[in-house]
Amino acid sequence: MRRYAGICINRCICSRVAFADLKREAQAHGAGTIEELQAVREFGVNCRLCHPYVRRMLRDGTTEFSEIIPADGRD
Ligand code: FES
Repeated sequence: MRRYAGICINRCICSRVAFADLKREAQAHGAGTIEELQAVREFGVNCRLCHPYVRRMLRDGTTEFSEIIPADGRD
C-alpha cells in the first residue's frame, strides 16, 4: 500500500467525527463492525469513503492513516 508523506486521514469528514473518538465509542460499547458502531454514533452515512479506514481501525486500532485505502466494495 502506498503511503503519502504529509497526509493524515483521521476522521469521517462528512460527519466530522475523528477515528479516535470512534475507537473510544467502539471500545465502550463493544462494537466490532461498522454497523454496530453506527448504532451508537452517527458517522459514515454519506460518501462512505471512511468505511475502509474504520474497518481497519476496528481490526488493529489505527486511528491515523497516511495511505489511501481503496474502497473494498463492501458498502
Ligand atoms: S467520509 Fe465518512 S461518510 Fe464521507
